Amino acid sequence: MYSDALMGRFLEPSHAGDIEAPDGASEAGNVTCGDVVHLAIRVEEGIVRDARFRAQGCATAIASADAICELVIGKSVTEAQMVDSAGLTYTLGGIPDDRMGCATIVLDALRACLERARSRPQPSSAA
Ligand code: FES
Repeated sequence: MYSDALMGRFLEPSHAGDIEAPDGASEAGNVTCGDVVHLAIRVEEGIVRDARFRAQGCATAIASADAICELVIGKSVTEAQMVDSAGLTYTLGGIPDDRMGCATIVLDALRACLERARSRPQPSSAA
């Protein structure tokens, strides 16, 4: 049912955790099951330097959150906004059709997170 890549990320996620004073943070949930994913990013000079998640969810939600963090780190905010379900599915080696909603909440959290980072006032370059 689940790919090795998805199960590996579920059992040993690399990006679980928090970011202190993140530039963008958001939470998205699955109304069907009540699961929740919290995503946070740190952005410097328009580049996503770190991304972390906390999730109370199923294997697909946790693996998707871990993969999303990996997919956006090192990308510009604009590039990160282009990460979609196809890229996520590829990274996870497939997502069962009946679990796509679990991955979608992570993409929803990413979109909100990036929007908050984008709309956040940038620090002044003046000394
Ligand atoms: Fe709740 Fe997957 S079953 S997020």
